Amino acid sequence: MAEQIVIAGPASQGLAVKVAQILQARVVATENKVFPDGECYLRVAVENDGMIRGKDVIIIQTTGASSHSDQNQQIMQLIMMISAVKRMEAAKIRVVMPYFAYSRQDKAFRPGESIFANELCRWIEAAGATEFYTVDIHSTKILDVFTIPAFNLDPMKILAEEIKKRGVSDPVVICPDKGAFERSRAFAKYLGDNVPVEQFQKTRDVKTGEITMEGELHVEGKEVIIADDIIASGGTMAFALKIAKKAGASKIYAVSTHPLLIKNAVFKLISAGTDEIIGTDTLDSPSMQCSVASVIADAIQGDK
Ligand code: R5P
Repeated sequence: MAEQIVIAGPASQGLAVKVAQILQARVVATENKVFPDGECYLRVAVENDGMIRGKDVIIIQTTGASSHSDQNQQIMQLIMMISAVKRMEAAKIRVVMPYFAYSRQDKAFRPGESIFANELCRWIEAAGATEFYTVDIHSTKILDVFTIPAFNLDPMKILAEEIKKRGVSDPVVICPDKGAFERSRAFAKYLGDNVPVEQFQKTRDVKTGEITMEGELHVEGKEVIIADDIIASGGTMAFALKIAKKAGASKIYAVSTHPLLIKNAVFKLISAGTDEIIGTDTLDSPSMQCSVASVIADAIQGDK
C-alpha cells in the first residue's frame, strides 16, 4: 500500500491536520498568494518531487467563501494542487472538497444559464483527481457527472451528537423544504427513537430569490431543531425560525452542515429567535462547533 500524504489546502488547514492525525499520515502545507494582477499562486510545500511520487495523496480544500478568500480563488488553488501532485506523479489523487461551491447551480433554472456544478466536476477530474469526496452535497445528482469514484459523506451523526450534548428533551426536527427531508430524517434518527420530523414547503422566486414557506407546525412548548445543508444569507433559516417561534417552540437550534453565514446572516438568525447556531468545520465559519474529520478519515480508510 502506498504511503498516504495529506495536503492541507489553504482553505481547510485545521480540518486537514485533524484528518492526517486520525490517518497517522504525513501532512504537507501549501504556500499561496495573489499576484498584483489578481492571479493566484500556489505551491505544495515539498522539498522535491520524490516526496509525492508514487504516494497516495489526499488533498483537502473546501470551496466556501470566508473572510480569507472567496470560493473562486479556492477553486483555482484546488486545481493548482491537483495539477502539481499529478506532475509530481502521485499514484492516487484523492480530492476532498468538504463544501462544494456552486452546488446550488445544479440545474438550468432559466434559459441561458450554465449548470456550473457539473462543469466543476469535469474540471476537477480533468486536472487529475482519481477519487472525489464531499460532505452533504446540496444534490447528490451532481456527483453522477464524475467518471471517477465520487462519494457524498454524511455528517448527521456528528451534528446529532453535538445537539445531544445540550441535553435536549422531547425534541422535534423541522425540515425547511422538500429537498432536505431525507437529511432531516437521518438527523432525527441519530437524535433518538421516534423523534418527529415536521416539514415546510419552501418556494423561492428564481428571479428575485424571495422565499415563501407553507406548513403548519406542532411544536408548542417543544425544543426544535431546524436542520438544513447550507445557511448562506440566512433567509431560509430565519423564515423557518420565525414560524417555529410563532408556533410556540420553547427553544430553537439552527443546525447546518455548512454554516456559510454570509453578510448579516448571524444577525438575521438571532433576531428571528434562534438560541444557538450549530455547524461543522466543512468551511471556515464562526459556528463550526463540531468536526467532520472522523467522517472523512473513515471514508478514506474504508477505501484503501
Ligand atoms: C436550499 O435549497 C438550501 O438547502 C438552503 O436552504 C439554502 O441554500 C440556504 O440559503 P439562504 O441561507 O441564503 O436562504
